[in-house]
Amino acid sequence: MRNKLLLGNWKMNKTTTEAKEFAAAASSLLEIASAHHVDIGVAPSFLSLEAVRKALPAAFIVSAQNVNEHDHGAYTGEVSIPMLKDIGIDWAIIGHSERRSYNAETSLACNAKIKALLAAGMTPVYCLGESLETFEKGETKAFVSTQLKEGLKDLTPDEARKVIIAYEPIWAIGTGKSATKEIAEDVIGFIRRTLREHFGPVSEDMRILYGGSVKPNNVREYMECPNIDGALVGGASLNIDSYRELLEGMI
Ligand code: 13P
Repeated sequence: MRNKLLLGNWKMNKTTTEAKEFAAAASSLLEIASAHHVDIGVAPSFLSLEAVRKALPAAFIVSAQNVNEHDHGAYTGEVSIPMLKDIGIDWAIIGHSERRSYNAETSLACNAKIKALLAAGMTPVYCLGESLETFEKGETKAFVSTQLKEGLKDLTPDEARKVIIAYEPIWAIGTGKSATKEIAEDVIGFIRRTLREHFGPVSEDMRILYGGSVKPNNVREYMECPNIDGALVGGASLNIDSYRELLEGMI
């Protein structure tokens, strides 16, 4: 059985002081989540990772929002996998659409990061999803299929099994205009079938999340869909009450 997963992506929000306040309040949610087979986590900025990691129990996931694929070297402004591991971080979001748009990250660049994370025994959360233009042209599946193929290129089935996929249609991110559960389930079901073609039966063990304007009042709809294993949440994960309500909507 695939555990559900609630992951809050804080993007460029919260000072370390604010992040620590959230962590202190969120700590007690782990027990409720575990009792219902839901994994929970947050992805703070690099600066707050260590403080949040220390403030939360080990089973509460604390993820980076990005990582560089090189272990060290002349990469000004970048953060490496050994740096993350040193402070107890073993998850990283890769290929978020904001990084694809503002930092020109390609799926092949994501592939290098995913491979480096897997080699280090870490968990990548690989984000993909189409623009409004691609959606309106009816080309979502072809687009997403290329992102999958390139992002997961040359992975063995055993490696692929450790990757979490997040389908986030760009037109639904931060817009309040979420994809209907029918659209989300249709694309995520397609993603699972594509994973099966590439990697075989391990596709049944792989968790695929939906992201894009997930709120406490719509999270349950997604969770009722057979292929949707959780949510990657931006805005609604920033406030502790709203985060708790998201969790309640998943149990
Ligand atoms: P919102 O939940 O704010 O739409 O953001 C979604 C997202 O980008 C999570 O990674």
